[in-house]
Amino acid sequence: MTTRHMLVAGNWKMHTTSGEGAVLIQDIAQRVEEEWNEVEVAVCPPFTGLKAASTVIELDGLRISLGAQDVHWEAEGAYTGAISARMLTELRCDYVIVGHSERREFFGDTDQSVNKKVRAVFDAGMTPIMCCGEALTVREALETESFVRAQVTAGAAGLTSTEAQRLVIAYEPIWAIGTGRTPTPEAANDVCRSIRATIGAMYGPPAAMAVRVLYGGSVKPENAAMFFAEPDIDGALVGGAALKADPFADIVKAAR
Ligand code: 13P
Repeated sequence: MTTRHMLVAGNWKMHTTSGEGAVLIQDIAQRVEEEWNEVEVAVCPPFTGLKAASTVIELDGLRISLGAQDVHWEAEGAYTGAISARMLTELRCDYVIVGHSERREFFGDTDQSVNKKVRAVFDAGMTPIMCCGEALTVREALETESFVRAQVTAGAAGLTSTEAQRLVIAYEPIWAIGTGRTPTPEAANDVCRSIRATIGAMYGPPAAMAVRVLYGGSVKPENAAMFFAEPDIDGALVGGAALKADPFADIVKAAR
């Protein structure tokens, strides 16, 4: 039996002003109040929306966790445009998405920089949601599991076993992001099980049991329950369907 707490996190990407984000959080909260004891709900607005989001969550007493979408690994310094982990903890962020395929593709993230970011997030007391996932060419070459295992091995290197137990990993096949295409739930679970086994090989059985592995890529109210029924899938990282309260709340309800 597993005691892992299901997590449904919304990655808002480059959408929403801070005002729009604050309203969206209130709309989501109204719809999931009955669920948030059983399912952890998180929202990840753009950096500019974090302050307003954190204020709404606190003033309204909402049980919604807050996440950022990226971080720099250095504590401070001459890194124009970058945001440090300490800046995010001050805004009461609980999570930071690290190594999303869009950061890897458009902003030069590598397994090595992902690892530095993961460790910076832990050092600041937050929890990374470390993303991995293969391109279509990798899937077609039947190399998905070895590719993802290499990403996880590099990205999650050098943690303490306590950190490894707290880690969240999001398996997001790149070809499923924003396309409406998904792997079958069984195929997604196979990769998530292999991710869990990789963490187990690195940090032992307690970490394998505790690490939460999310599925991401075209998660919708219509398909969420099928993914959540799989034993190695502990929730979802949701893009497009997280930008409106109704579909996002329906995905949260499917995780109960
Ligand atoms: P979609 O849900 O829009 O496919 O995006 C998934 C994603 O990239 C979440 O991080």
